[in-house]
Amino acid sequence: MKRKTKNVLSQIGLRTSDSPISWLMKTKIERPNLVSLAAGFTDNESLPLSISRRLLNELLEDEVIGRAALQYGTTAGDDALRELTAKRIEYLDKSSSDKDMANIAKRMVITHGSQQFLYILTEALCDPGDIVLVEDPTYFVYLGIMQSRGLNGRGIAMNHDGIDLNHLERVLESLRRSGELKRTKMLYLVSYFQNPTGRSTSLLIKKGALDLLKKYEKAAGHPIYLLEDAAYRELGFAGQSDSSVLSICDASERVIYSGTYSKPFATGVRVGFGVLPEDLLAPFLRIKSNHDFGTSHLIQKLVFRALDSGEYFKNLEKAQRRYQFKANVMYDAICNYFPEVVKWQKPDGGLNFWTELPRSMNTGLKSKFFQEALNQNVLYVPGNLCYVDDSTRRTPSNEMRLSFGAASEKEIRKGIQSLGNVIKRK
Ligand SMILES: Cc1ncc(COP(=O)(O)O)c(C=O)c1O
Repeated sequence: MKRKTKNVLSQIGLRTSDSPISWLMKTKIERPNLVSLAAGFTDNESLPLSISRRLLNELLEDEVIGRAALQYGTTAGDDALRELTAKRIEYLDKSSSDKDMANIAKRMVITHGSQQFLYILTEALCDPGDIVLVEDPTYFVYLGIMQSRGLNGRGIAMNHDGIDLNHLERVLESLRRSGELKRTKMLYLVSYFQNPTGRSTSLLIKKGALDLLKKYEKAAGHPIYLLEDAAYRELGFAGQSDSSVLSICDASERVIYSGTYSKPFATGVRVGFGVLPEDLLAPFLRIKSNHDFGTSHLIQKLVFRALDSGEYFKNLEKAQRRYQFKANVMYDAICNYFPEVVKWQKPDGGLNFWTELPRSMNTGLKSKFFQEALNQNVLYVPGNLCYVDDSTRRTPSNEMRLSFGAASEKEIRKGIQSLGNVIKRK
């Protein structure tokens, strides 16, 4: 950075570091022959091209509706889309009677992707130096938000059905003893087919986590929120999964839910949503108003029409089948090409396989292993990028996130075979 620029930047401008995903994406663009098992992109073939063309045409053919869609909307988002989104959550949660569910639409904000929801929420709750508890490992782009905003993190160990509640309690207790609980604002869980591990958190664990957070809020002097990021909720392969935190009785003032239309419909629409406790809604909307005073009205109308016409669900079924197929291709390839020393588990949904190599194999961006994989024309997400900076534990550096979302069937096989060769040579 030039010296003059350095002098003019704000603390946040200076502090915010490069996102590793931008580098991974740039590398793929510069080297088109590279097989990227790193990209967070979704499957190109499942994108709703003709549906979107038809629905947008219908929308814009109507003079009144078309003009309204091309106007500004409201900061909270389109009422009709919020109603349908709330109904969808109720359906997925198998509960329509609970009183907390009743006002979900009123507590909902439509955002520019769920990424914007996560950002604004974090901005509304946390000052530099505050603490967010995250899964170990977690969604690494959220770690970017934390880094940029000067937050500290503590990693909570994971089991196969979500976080380890005993560990959560130990961390909360140690924060209480050190006086840092006052700075602890929330626990962030990516609860369905987690990015990066593919694991899901059971409702039991979510309830257990919420009880623990409530137990420690007196010592904190404020609520410690449970933020559930359900970005991959609709990308399951095998029927319905557990209900969300919104279904937990009398929890509406302590839980926050974040969802998206990116993954189940089209990443390019950049429409996400979140449900907030009533107390947080107004501060959130004030900040969002400064960001953009509302998400693209036209695109919200497109998503509404897709849901209302049922086209959304038809397309979703197609996408789910396609991801299941690709997951099977990756499964077969891993069985064929990876040696037995590699530990992994087949996911029931989402877009990723999480693989653990022997401890001696460093998979980090600067490692020989990563360089050899690049030489073999294959890219993956190094596992250590998915761990929050937390000096109370060692950061594992022997894992890889392998995505089957964007790569073709042929690329998946080729990429896994090449990675298998690199592993076998180590
Ligand atoms: C866990 C998780 N949450 C949130 C997002 C943000 O997605 P979007 O902004 O497209 O809704 C992503 C994107 O990859 C994700 O993996």
